[in-house]
Amino acid sequence: MSELSKVVVLAGGLSHERDVSLRSGRRVALALRNRDIEVIEIDSDSSLLTTLLALSGEPGVVLFPTLHGASGEDGSIRDVIEIVGLPYVGSRPEACRRAFNKPVAKGIVASPTTRVPRGVVLPHSTFRELGAPALLDAIVKKFGLPLMVKPTEGGSSLGATLVKEMSKLPEAMIACFAYGNDALIEEGISGTEIAISVIDDGTRLRALPAVEIVPDSGFYSYDARYTAGLTEFFVPARIEDDLAERAAIVALEAHKHLGLRDISRSDLIIDEHGEIWFLEVNLAPGMTETSLLPQSVEAAGLDISDVYLSLVTNALARSPLE
Ligand SMILES: Nc1ncnc2c1ncn2[C@@H]1O[C@H](COP(=O)(O)OP(=O)(O)O)[C@@H](O)[C@H]1O
Ligand SMILES: [Mg+2]
Repeated sequence: MSELSKVVVLAGGLSHERDVSLRSGRRVALALRNRDIEVIEIDSDSSLLTTLLALSGEPGVVLFPTLHGASGEDGSIRDVIEIVGLPYVGSRPEACRRAFNKPVAKGIVASPTTRVPRGVVLPHSTFRELGAPALLDAIVKKFGLPLMVKPTEGGSSLGATLVKEMSKLPEAMIACFAYGNDALIEEGISGTEIAISVIDDGTRLRALPAVEIVPDSGFYSYDARYTAGLTEFFVPARIEDDLAERAAIVALEAHKHLGLRDISRSDLIIDEHGEIWFLEVNLAPGMTETSLLPQSVEAAGLDISDVYLSLVTNALARSPLE
């Protein structure tokens, strides 16, 4: 195995989460430079392939993708990285495809101990063809209110609305279709929202302390995420130890069953009966200054630079197809 010579942070891209990705990438680069690692930051644009091919000729280069949304998380850019043959941090393309699609991931993760919200997937075309009012009426009759409307493949709550009244459902659908062709409409779960990050420290998979999310507005929207002060976080979450342990197992199982690698973050809600609901898993969790993963790393008493460096070292040590 060659010595680590350089880390290439891949951030930006063309998804709706471009800005968030650039901020995540900047933090990762900073954390690694703090350990005297040479880091270059590159964007995912038309020059990407040429850049990657040039880098693949150098020994000891590891790629650290912090691309959120679309091509960053649906596996497509990772397919390109694999073709080029560079070692990289994070999940392989096939696992990305399973995890990035929320209904597919829910189907795989659901178990007697992990509940998933009931719901339907409505493609834009079906919505138009069948007539929106009758269809929405039938959905509300089946699942009740509140309903969560979100793109099947999205992130950062973009296009997501918690609908409490029937009259607000059509506009929620339109907002959702602005971000994707397929809408996931599911029952709204109320309770304590937590996020659990999972990292592979090279010897074992480890669930970090849960972060409890309490947004001012009651919904963890895009603004609530990236505007300082709009959301209160509690790390570790204010939940009983046995619940925290069960939730950690849910996040670890989700990571394993979906075949994820290195790092993930599961978004969960614990209801008043102590049931754990799985909402989704993120295979490129946010790494900005207000993101959840860095908060749980700190709460675990770990140093973020050490965590990122160990991910990079592990990536370099394994064979390309492992
Ligand atoms: N079924 C649901 N019931 C209640 N709240 C939900 C539900 N699904 C999502 N949410 C809320 O919406 C936010 C975004 O949804 P999520 O599935 O995590 O998608 P993403 O983070 O990829 O946009 C969650 O953090 C949570 O606050
Ligand atoms: Mg989420």
